[in-house]
Amino acid sequence: MNEEFKELLIAKYYVEHVKSVEIAAEEICDEESVGTWTDLTTTVGKPHIARLRAEVLDKQVFDDHGDYQSGEVTIGFQTETFDLEAGITSILSMVAGNLFGLGALRNIRWLDVEFPRSIIENFPGPKFGIEGVRKIIGTDKGEFPNRPHIGTIVKPKMGLTAQEWADVTYEAAIGGVDFIKDDENLSDQHFCPLEDRVIHVLERLDQVKEETGRTVIHAVNVTATHDVMWKRIKTALDNGAKCLMIDVILTGYQELAQMARDPSVKVPIHVHRTMHAAFTRNQKHGISMLPVAKIVRMLGGDQLHIGSYGQGKMDTDLELELQLKQSLIEPMYELKTTFPVASGGLYPAKIPNLVKYGGNNVIIQAGGGIHGHPDGTRKGAMAMRQALDATLKGVSLDEYAKDHQELAKALEKWGK
Ligand code: 3PG
Ligand code: 3PG
Ligand code: MG
Repeated sequence: MNEEFKELLIAKYYVEHVKSVEIAAEEICDEESVGTWTDLTTTVGKPHIARLRAEVLDKQVFDDHGDYQSGEVTIGFQTETFDLEAGITSILSMVAGNLFGLGALRNIRWLDVEFPRSIIENFPGPKFGIEGVRKIIGTDKGEFPNRPHIGTIVKPKMGLTAQEWADVTYEAAIGGVDFIKDDENLSDQHFCPLEDRVIHVLERLDQVKEETGRTVIHAVNVTATHDVMWKRIKTALDNGAKCLMIDVILTGYQELAQMARDPSVKVPIHVHRTMHAAFTRNQKHGISMLPVAKIVRMLGGDQLHIGSYGQGKMDTDLELELQLKQSLIEPMYELKTTFPVASGGLYPAKIPNLVKYGGNNVIIQAGGGIHGHPDGTRKGAMAMRQALDATLKGVSLDEYAKDHQELAKALEKWGK
C-alpha cells in the first residue's frame, strides 16, 4: 500500500456492522490490540500501551441496510505487538483472530494483507521458487524455455496399489507430464503405503529419465499429525523423493513453516489448499484466498493451488485468481516466487485459456483429463502436451488435432 505505514501490518476487511462501519473499525482495533469491549482502568496513564493500539487507516461505507451498515476498513497493526518467534500464529491471532466472532459484526471478511519488511525478514520464503523448480525439471531451457508445466494427479485417488500407482506415473511421464502429485487425501493408506509408493514411483521415473532424458518429479503427500508427518518426510527423503506435498489448511500453517525451514528438506514443497473453501468461498465472511497465498509464499511453499482461471470444476473467481497469481510471482522483498497451480476438472481444450490467463508461470494439472482419455494415461498426457504445444506455437487446437490423434480424441470426448 503505502510507504508511510511501512512498520505497520496493513489488513483490509469487508465488514457488516449492526451500527456503523466506523464503529466496526474501532472495535476491531480494540479487540485485536490493546482493548476490549469496555474501557480499562489498567491502561489509564500508560502511554506505552496506547502506542500499541491498532490504527484505522481507511474506511469506506458501501451501504446502509437499516439494521446494519456495510463497507470496507483498513487497519494497521503495530508490528511490535507480534511475537515473531512464535511465527505466523502470533500474527493471525490478531489479524484473523476473535474479530470473526464479534457479535456486532454480522459478517467480516479478511480481504488482503500487506506485510512490512520487518515482518517478512523473519520468514524464509520458498527455497526453490519457480526458477528453482524449473531448473530441477529442466524447463528453464528447451524449445519453449520457461513454458507452463503440465502435471497430473493419479486417478483414481483411492484404491490403486503402490505398484499400480507407480505404473500410472510411468505412463503419464512417458506421455509428457512434467510433474506428478499425490491426491490431497492419499497419504499412507494400507493399500498404497507411502514408502512403497515413493520407491516404486522413483524406479519408474528413473526409467523415464533413462529412456527420454527428462526429469519428472513426484510430490509425496506427507500430511499428518506433527510426529507422523516428520516420520513420513524422513521416509520420503531417505528414499530419494524429489518433492513433498502438504495440505496446509489441514495441518496448519506452522507445519509448512517448519518443513520449509528445516535444512533436511532440500526439495520443493507443493502446497494443496483442500478445505480452504470452507472459509474462502463466502464473499461476505471468512478469509479471502489472497492473504492465504501471501502467507504460503512467505512461509516457504514452492507451488500453490490458486484455482483454474474460470476453466475447471471448482468454484472460481477469475479476477481474484489473477490477483493470486500476481501475489505469488511479483516481487515481495527478497522472497523467491511460488509457482501457481491450476487444477481441478481440467483437460486439453482448457489449455489455451489457462495460458492466456496464467502466462508461462502456471502448472496445469489434470487428473480425469489425462487418465480419462479414451486411449489411456499415456495418450492423455500426450494430448495435454499437444494442446500446450499448439498454444505456444499459436496454432488452434482444431488445426493441431488434424495430425495429432491423441489431441483429436481428447477434443472429441470432452469437447472443445
Ligand atoms: C487435484 O488434487 O488437483 C485434483 O485431484 C484434480 O483432479 P481432476 O483433474 O480429476 O479434477
Ligand atoms: C482437486 O483436488 O480436485 C483440486 O485441484 C482442488 O482445487 P484447487 O486446485 O482449486 O485447490
Ligand atoms: Mg485432488
